Amino acid sequence: MKPKKIRIIAHGGAGSENEHSDGTKKAVETCYKEVQKSTSLIHAVSLAVCVLEDDGRYNAGSGSHARANGKIEHDAAIMDSEGCFGAVAAMKGFKNPIQAAKAVSKTKYRILAGEGAAKFAQDLKLEPTHLQNISGGGKDFSTSPTTDTVGCVAFDGTSFVAALSTGGMAGAHYGRVGDVPIIGSGLYAGPDGAVATTGDGEAIMMKITAYRAYELIQKGVSPQSIVDEVINWFPTDAFGLILLSHKGSAGGSNRSMAWSSREFG
Ligand code: GLY
Repeated sequence: MKPKKIRIIAHGGAGSENEHSDGTKKAVETCYKEVQKSTSLIHAVSLAVCVLEDDGRYNAGSGSHARANGKIEHDAAIMDSEGCFGAVAAMKGFKNPIQAAKAVSKTKYRILAGEGAAKFAQDLKLEPTHLQNISGGGKDFSTSPTTDTVGCVAFDGTSFVAALSTGGMAGAHYGRVGDVPIIGSGLYAGPDGAVATTGDGEAIMMKITAYRAYELIQKGVSPQSIVDEVINWFPTDAFGLILLSHKGSAGGSNRSMAWSSREFG
């Protein structure tokens, strides 16, 4: 029997250091091992995002930037090509927000925010984060560019999945929600492919970026041409994306960006 065709890409966010691609490689390998065990693709991708959230070098999970009030809030989302979507927004207190987003996708709701999202995660006994009481997340971003968001897209020969997780913009107002939990803005997955973006969330939202990139996939444009075109939509704001289609995979950014991809089978 021909082996299953599997494609996986993970990114550490626009502005993350290229040298930190050992973390995105680990995420890709984690996803691959899970797919081999025949767990669902959405579960495998969520575990890849957990690896990135736990890494500490990217702006998500344990590496999240703090808001202007010194507190940390998370946005995360996951979507598959079977019509499953779940997200959390401005959620405080949990180590792996992507697990909360995945759990939301199994409910009748699509996005839970703020205290309601935290109560939902608490009821599921998701692991709390040690960061919740650390003002500033232990980092000083005043003299260095901020990095943004982690993401993963995968294809297992049948389904596509896209997932994102972020601590949001460093120094933003508390309660600020970016593109990550907004379907079609930060991410999109459908029968023809999957897209996960990174960068300035307000700019990404206003261009409905992920869905418009997905429309280019539907038109048969090659993955690399889509990456090149979509990056051009952001002449000044930090931006990057990874995507998969039946034609292949590509990724890129107008900043440095740690990212890794592998095709198996
Ligand atoms: N792209 C992530 C954010 O702006 O929150």
